[in-house]
Amino acid sequence: MANGGLHLADHWVENHKRDSWRRQAKASGYRARSAFKLKQIQERFTLLREGDITLDVGCHPGGWAQVATELVGESGWVIGVDLEACQPVEGSILLVGDITEAHTQQRVLEELNERPLNSVISDISPNITGKWDMDQAVAMTLVAQVFDFSLPLLCKGGSFVSKLFQGVGVEELIDVVKPFFSDVRRFSPHASRNSSSEVYLVCRNFMPWKFRKVSVLEGYETALNLKLGGDDIEEAPDIITSSFSVRKKKTE
Ligand SMILES: C[S@@+](CC[C@H](N)C(=O)[O-])C[C@H]1O[C@@H](n2cnc3c(N)ncnc32)[C@H](O)[C@@H]1O
Repeated sequence: MANGGLHLADHWVENHKRDSWRRQAKASGYRARSAFKLKQIQERFTLLREGDITLDVGCHPGGWAQVATELVGESGWVIGVDLEACQPVEGSILLVGDITEAHTQQRVLEELNERPLNSVISDISPNITGKWDMDQAVAMTLVAQVFDFSLPLLCKGGSFVSKLFQGVGVEELIDVVKPFFSDVRRFSPHASRNSSSEVYLVCRNFMPWKFRKVSVLEGYETALNLKLGGDDIEEAPDIITSSFSVRKKKTE
């Protein structure tokens, strides 16, 4: 189809699939059909393990928190954050707050009490206004902010999963975070409502020695401005420094 839209029949199939996941979620005791997305990501990549400490960003109503607490088991632990309050999930601490605000971040740090995170799972999604370009831009900025808060807390070998909204800036964001992990890829779980727009970024094996406390948000915005030719940037700030060093040749 020229405009990339869906035929009526395709809509019917999509709605049918969505209802089917919703029914399955209800029958299995999960609060949201999104639980199956995390289950499918886990089946494919085995990111969460017994004993892990996991940060669940945008956790309401708690479907991912339910799946994550099952996976990390009694020796593990899930900290969730959302603007909205969730019903409790045994084995997790679900905080109410905005993950981009210092106050909420401080509460997460207090809960962690210097323990590193093994994994970050983010299904964060801003309020949708219906203006796709604007919604997508806001969503991408949120993802970059979640990276900025949580990467310094992630342990060696840790993983980071985030919902992405396909569109402008996705490649630029991936380019910024790719050097910090040994494997970064996109994945669309079957349970995603509309696989053409909803996709998850799966980053595995965090390499803290490659992470030089840069701002992902700044790197992303700079790359995006360069691409779009906006903001009259005369010279791009040197945000990501090269890991190469020039050694002086020994002179005899
Ligand atoms: C798709 S829902 C998450 C569903 C969840 N993974 C589950 O399985 O139940 C996205 C959530 O992101 C939350 N959110 C959006 N912006 C946020 C922010 N700045 N801080 C924390 N949560 C946010 C929304 O309140 C919403 O509940």
